[in-house]
Amino acid sequence: MRRILVVDDDADLRMTVASALTEGQYIVEQAADGEEAVNRVRAKSFDLVLMDVNMPRLSGIEALKEIKAHDPSIMVIILTAYSNIRDAIEATRLGAYNYLEKPVKSENLVYMIDQAFKSQNMVKSLSYSAPVFNLPSGNEFVGQSNEMKKIFSVIDRLARVDTAVLIRGESGTGKELVAQSLHYSGPRKDNRFVAINCSAIPESLMESEFFGHEKGAFTGADSRKIGKFQYAEGGTLFLDEIGEIPASMQVKLLRVLQEKKFTPVGSNREIEMNVRIVAATNRNLEVMIKDGSFREDLFYRLNVLPIQLPPLRERKNDIESLSKYFTDKFNQRYQKKIRGVSDEALALLKAHRWPGNIRELENVMEHAFVLEMEEMITIDSLPEKIRNIAVATPIGSVNSGLVSGAILKTGTTTDSDDDIEEVNLSAHADSSEVSMDGSAMSFRMSVQKFDFQASKEEFEKQFLIEALRVFKGKINQTAIHANIPKKTLLRKLEKYGIIAKDYNND
Ligand SMILES: Nc1ncnc2c1ncn2[C@@H]1O[C@H](COP(=O)(O)OP(=O)(O)OP(=O)(O)O)[C@@H](O)[C@H]1O
Ligand SMILES: [Mg+2]
Repeated sequence: MRRILVVDDDADLRMTVASALTEGQYIVEQAADGEEAVNRVRAKSFDLVLMDVNMPRLSGIEALKEIKAHDPSIMVIILTAYSNIRDAIEATRLGAYNYLEKPVKSENLVYMIDQAFKSQNMVKSLSYSAPVFNLPSGNEFVGQSNEMKKIFSVIDRLARVDTAVLIRGESGTGKELVAQSLHYSGPRKDNRFVAINCSAIPESLMESEFFGHEKGAFTGADSRKIGKFQYAEGGTLFLDEIGEIPASMQVKLLRVLQEKKFTPVGSNREIEMNVRIVAATNRNLEVMIKDGSFREDLFYRLNVLPIQLPPLRERKNDIESLSKYFTDKFNQRYQKKIRGVSDEALALLKAHRWPGNIRELENVMEHAFVLEMEEMITIDSLPEKIRNIAVATPIGSVNSGLVSGAILKTGTTTDSDDDIEEVNLSAHADSSEVSMDGSAMSFRMSVQKFDFQASKEEFEKQFLIEALRVFKGKINQTAIHANIPKKTLLRKLEKYGIIAKDYNND
């Protein structure tokens, strides 16, 4: 349920506004001035704040600034007397959604809140930007890259027909999500979606698992059992890891696909079926056909409508929206209020190659959620394999200026077929007091010419030496200004045999 905070020093007005709202639709809380409002918003998440302008302690305008700085997605509606309308206009310039004149009419209030939530929803859905596939258990299919937009439109069209679909893609690319989307946004959605992982069932039990068996059909079959095909009647049967099914089952499956009938083990009665088959694999079925381990006729039956999911490294545009999505998901799961991923951490996420695709990203985000004590996911809470991505080789000369640590920026990535991708690291200038004394702090790297590990280590080493020189060998200062956790800094110095004191020229 949406949470609304009503802020006014006039207790009567708060009550009137709150009572116009509750009605089981919203959770409404109250605060008596700007300062209390800011504290509450920091302590708990709110979707919308209704706020007076003139209040003791902290004015509505000041409170608005702080609330927006804390979480820009919170909608703020200003309540104001006509005489303060200038303030209200100023407030909208500062990010308030809109303002309402006092005395507040409840129908106007309700209407404006409704509109505010509608536009908030639109913004949210834009940031994930995928059609709604009505997935169960609150899952969403996220993606805004052109590659995924194409997939979404294919799913949208295929959901309406009954033809078999073969979903292909590396592990963790979302094959099961596609299968669910096909089911839950199509006409079969009110019947079952049944998934079988073909690699998890022993060959001897597979036929019975698929088609069921009669009592006494084989040793151990002490009662009749219906199979997954029957269980999925009217719905969708998802055959995951189809590349793993043994030859004997391939023939039987082919027959079922052709005849739309099957026979339970030990039975002489054929059962007609109305089940849509969706299969998935990360195996190269063409190679398997060549070496005789997958039947070509079955392949053609299944492959009528193929969907090929691109690996995450080929659609890095999706990393940001996926990380937002997982932030929302894990905030709920872990009761946290993390606002997102820092720019530096995001740059690293974009630089990683993601062999485990979205599942790996999901795990990395979850790992970070458990560790992160700050309000943003920072580099420090990313796993080492990602923290250590910073690949670079110093080139060119001085970029003297003010340096507060290296900020990673992904550069134009090279062709994604390469094992390692190109990352640009550039020193980031801000208003820190210390100035770099000279050597190269601008890095660019053309990966093919270099060895990844060696280049990475060379960069780290140069960076550390440079930072120590600037901060006169002082560990604490170097750690703070160069934005390296002290522990990491000490570990790296040890690794590279760098003696901090050597750089103290006082
Ligand atoms: N585009 C996406 N948006 C949101 N979540 C996604 C997306 N793609 C995948 N996921 C999530 O990533 C995880 C892995 O996805 P899924 O199980 O569908 O992959 P898979 O291709 O079937 O992997 P495998 O081959 O290993 O079985 C799931 O938790 C899924 O919800
Ligand atoms: Mg899967």
